[in-house]
Amino acid sequence: MLFKALQIDDDQSLGRFARKTKIPVKRLKYYNDARILPSGNDLDIILKEADISLIKLMLLTGNLTRELKTLVAEHADHITRILSPLPKKEKSEKQIKPIFTTELGKLFQGDCLDLLETIENDSVDLVFADPPFNLNKLYPSGINDDLKADQYLSWCEKWIVECARILKPGGSFFIWNLPKWNSRIAEYLNVILTFRHWISVDIKYSLPIKGRLYPSHYSLLYYCKGEKPQTFEPDRIPMGICPHCHGDLKDYGGYKNKMNPNGVNISDVWLDIPPVRHAKYKKRNGSNELSIKLLDRIIEMSSREGDLVFDPFGGSGTTYAVSQIKKRRWIGVEIGPVEDIIERFQKLEEDRLNLEQIRKNTNCLIPEKHYQKRVAQGLWTPETFRIKKSS
Ligand SMILES: C[S@@+](CC[C@H](N)C(=O)[O-])C[C@H]1O[C@@H](n2cnc3c(N)ncnc32)[C@H](O)[C@@H]1O
Repeated sequence: MLFKALQIDDDQSLGRFARKTKIPVKRLKYYNDARILPSGNDLDIILKEADISLIKLMLLTGNLTRELKTLVAEHADHITRILSPLPKKEKSEKQIKPIFTTELGKLFQGDCLDLLETIENDSVDLVFADPPFNLNKLYPSGINDDLKADQYLSWCEKWIVECARILKPGGSFFIWNLPKWNSRIAEYLNVILTFRHWISVDIKYSLPIKGRLYPSHYSLLYYCKGEKPQTFEPDRIPMGICPHCHGDLKDYGGYKNKMNPNGVNISDVWLDIPPVRHAKYKKRNGSNELSIKLLDRIIEMSSREGDLVFDPFGGSGTTYAVSQIKKRRWIGVEIGPVEDIIERFQKLEEDRLNLEQIRKNTNCLIPEKHYQKRVAQGLWTPETFRIKKSS
């Protein structure tokens, strides 16, 4: 975008501009590719050399400060006259039919954008989306997972705008992605929905990278449509307990007796979501499968039985399986092979049993597996204080 603004259209004109401004080609390319508005001396030099105003540069690169947005709003009539009408969105000709159904859900095979077109406004209670991360991974569907940053973000904007459209007022929208992408995705989510939380989910996802902090969390964006969510009933989770000695991981000092026996409030940092790496739990080959614990928590927090859940990126069908077990209606779609999802439903008992175990560790301060061990060792439990009170 910067190059377009500066009328740089090939390597030669780029080289010329770099020589004149003494700004290295590499840095100019970075500004252009990452859509960064230069600052400091670089900005002054670029504006002077290109003989362009800051407003024009911001408009051409799509980087509008709040001040410029206010100015644009003040001149809305004039700008609308120049820009209208916006190009019409073409309706897809593709017919998309369910390939698998249950009494609660429908699974489609195809592009989520085609399916989204067919879903009514304000009809879904909860959207959860775990899109490809544009990391050049090989998906069974063969989708291009190595787009230019701009292309990837424009694609995200398309399905996000559609998901927001189908969300009921009060509905919740969660997006799972790398912090790098979610920080950009949040820019336009903030325009159409209400920000609730940036949840950091502690999972190590790559080896340490030189010159970077060790990437150790995924970002889970949580937005709602309208002022507040229609359903917000988060589970409580157990306090931190050492898996070996069963003792407290944190010092609760004089507050132990005030702790809720149903568990502690969930914070916006989730430390207890396991990666799905073990073959026993994997529902399809390759990576990218999310833990049912994550979906259980989200679905429990933001929907009720009978509500409608939509996930535009099926993968192995984690969202659909958990929705089904938790008696939510669901709509699913996957552009690649769907056999693994269908097979997962044939063996849904496995997920159900797994989920039962997970739920045993929710809404209690000390899970059963630690409780008796703590009592035997004379460690405190909520009972300790109840007994003391009554004696
Ligand atoms: C990161 S995976 C989702 C994994 C899923 N959350 C799970 O737990 O198994 C993303 C999936 O989206 C699918 N996908 C990519 N583009 C799509 C599109 N336009 N429409 C529907 N599915 C798409 C990919 O084939 C891939 O299986």
